[in-house]
Order: sequence, then C-alpha cells, then structure tokens
Amino acid sequence: MTPARFSLILQALERRRATGLGPTHGPDHWRRVAAYGLELNTAEGTGHQDLALLFALFHDAGRANDHRDPLHGARGAKRAERYRRRGWFRASRATMRLLDYACRYHTQGWLDAPGAVQVCWDADRLDLWRVGTRPDPSRLCTRAARRIAHGFTSEGRTWVRDPGPARAVQEAAEDFWRKTARAVRAPERS
Ligand SMILES: [Fe+2]
Ligand SMILES: [Fe+2]
Repeated sequence: MTPARFSLILQALERRRATGLGPTHGPDHWRRVAAYGLELNTAEGTGHQDLALLFALFHDAGRANDHRDPLHGARGAKRAERYRRRGWFRASRATMRLLDYACRYHTQGWLDAPGAVQVCWDADRLDLWRVGTRPDPSRLCTRAARRIAHGFTSEGRTWVRDPGPARAVQEAAEDFWRKTARAVRAPERS
C-alpha cells in the first residue's frame, strides 16, 4: 500500500464516521500508529508493512465514541473487510485474517501473538503518550517497541512534558505521507 492509498482510505473513513472522534482516537492517532507500525515492521523484520498500515486505519475506525466502546475493534475489522470488497485496497486472505485478529483484540493488553500482530499492537500502545500515559515497556510485545519506550524515559525530563519524541514521530509521518499523496488523483479499483 502506498502512502497515497493510505491517505485516500483515511479521508474516506473520516468522511463516513457517524460521530466525531477527537484527537484521542481519530485520524491523527491513526497516522502516528502507522508511522510507529512502519518503523517497528522494519526494525523487527516482520515483512508486513501493509498489515501495519491497514491496522492503523481500521483498528479505531469503528469507534462510536472516545470513551467506553469495547466492541470497536470487531467493528473496525468488519469495516476493513467491507472496504477490501469494494476495492479500496487489495490484501491476501492471510493478511485479512491477521488484520481481523489484530483489530478485534487490540484492547486486551495481550503480548503473545504472531510477530506481525505484535507490531500492530505495539504501534498503538506506543501512542499512549497522547493521553498522558507513558508506554510501559513490560506491556510491549517487541524489542523494537521497548527500545522506543525506553527512549521516552531517558530524556532527562518527563517525556509527557517533553513533546520531542512525539513531535518527531508526527513530523516524520506527515512528511512520509505528503511526499507521495499528491501523485494520486483517484482510488484504484480492483
Ligand atoms: Fe482502540
Ligand atoms: Fe488506537
């Protein structure tokens, strides 16, 4: 999946949301989860870049509100399948199975899963700083994510007050998407 395709799906999801999600679970969060997911996917060598991007797009896209909504992961998985069927993206059956599992159970706090799913869950958990919670390295699945989380704590100041790491990830993600988004004019249909 190209960054341009990611942006198109993100915009479509954003338009179709029945209720507005704030910065906690909305598109800015999805972009950062994608940036973390790409980084972790490379560091861990899991070879599932598309899965990381699809998870970023859909794992919270089924949320009805920013508060308690325990079934939003399952709804997000179903929405991903609908988008695939309509031709918004292509993915193998194996990728869709992993995406379904990753979305459905991303709020359980589990550590044990296939490596590509662990990358997805860690990407979401690393973005906990947005709600003032430091990602706990013992609750992260991958070595690469634990390294990033330890980096947050070794800033010398509390990382929550120091937006440096968060801002760097956000800027890297925005730069990544911007570079190719302008090349695409219409969605690919399969
Ligand atoms: Fe979620
Ligand atoms: Fe999330």
